[in-house]
Amino acid sequence: MKKIVIQGGYKLHGSINISGSKNASLPILASTLLIDKKIILENVPIVKDILTMVNLLETLGKKIKIKKNKLEITSKNKKKYFAKYDLVKTMRAGILVIGPLLAKFNSAKVSLPGGCAIGARPVDLHLDFLSKSGYDNKILKGYVVSKKINLKDKICYTFKKISVGATENLIIAASLAKGTTILKNCATEPEIKDLIDFLNKTGCKINYQSNRTIKIIGVPKINETNYTVMFDRIEAGTYLIAAALTEGKIKIKNVDPKIIKTEIKILRKIGAKISLKSNEIRITGKKKIKNLNIKTAPYPGFPTDLQAQIMVLLCKAQKKSEIQENIFENRFMHVAELNRMGAKIYTKGNKAVIGGGTTFLGAELMATDLRAS
Ligand code: UD1
Repeated sequence: MKKIVIQGGYKLHGSINISGSKNASLPILASTLLIDKKIILENVPIVKDILTMVNLLETLGKKIKIKKNKLEITSKNKKKYFAKYDLVKTMRAGILVIGPLLAKFNSAKVSLPGGCAIGARPVDLHLDFLSKSGYDNKILKGYVVSKKINLKDKICYTFKKISVGATENLIIAASLAKGTTILKNCATEPEIKDLIDFLNKTGCKINYQSNRTIKIIGVPKINETNYTVMFDRIEAGTYLIAAALTEGKIKIKNVDPKIIKTEIKILRKIGAKISLKSNEIRITGKKKIKNLNIKTAPYPGFPTDLQAQIMVLLCKAQKKSEIQENIFENRFMHVAELNRMGAKIYTKGNKAVIGGGTTFLGAELMATDLRAS
């Protein structure tokens, strides 16, 4: 898609089903490399990253049929453990195949994902665990080349920083291991729980304990299953913010409000009227938007993937607001674009100060990262 043309000035009305989660589907798809038997995944959003992951898995020996939002995944006889640059470079989640490839074949050659629009995004946390659990990792010509040297039976590993992708990769890597793995200081995003629920349904033994600790007892093999991927909480949050922004009135369906409590609390503080049912949310945006200071943080904190969207809403507040971005070092690319539409935002390090009372005017803009766009 080269451009999107938006005719402004409309209030949002109506009801919408929220799609399945891209960020939950990607690690679940990567984890199917562990499994030779048939897997059926439902509620998968057919977006570009998912198609890239499907291509990547097909180069690694999977056969995948897509029917609407349902994926049927089986295995070809010939399997490979080489993930090419062409596919991994476009999507950072490509690194998630290293865990299952090592668990299954004891060897992997996976391209480094490279940089992206929102920061350097290294993979040191993924590789550190693999080295400590007994794999030899080398970086050769842009690829991580890993192989088993001496796998340990019992591993207790503490992440030095909370990372969603690294937590997912290592859960998958440990699922088929001989012994027990304890991961501490894990990310606890709902998409990680979804991955655990999926793997446990195939016969894995993964247990989320309290205090960001996950215990994985390796199993020798895992079975076929059907699984429905959770809703996309970022898509849900984006619609809620859009309704609040336009003084609209919408209902979002196929969601679990308990999972997005933080976002709901913040939107209520800003002044939106929200009512909840077990699997739907109704929101009415109000003219008066209250200013607020927000910090992004790992779950259950406010998600970095909604930082750009909430910033647009805060531009309409009566007074000045502040956002502190604590996850990525370069995630304010949208600020310059919003200022071109009339916003009054300046940044200082990882803080953005947002002047209120903005009347946006249409302009030609550059779409930066996915969420900001
Ligand atoms: C995932 C989400 C992304 C979301 C992010 C944070 C997917 C496909 N993507 O990305 O939408 O914005 O979580 O909620 O699920 N880091 C390191 N070393 C590593 C790994 C990460 O320093 O080895 C740093 C990153 O640069 C970043 C922070 O840790 O500053 C968090 O990144 P991480 O949680 O790993 O994000 P992703 O899994 O890439």
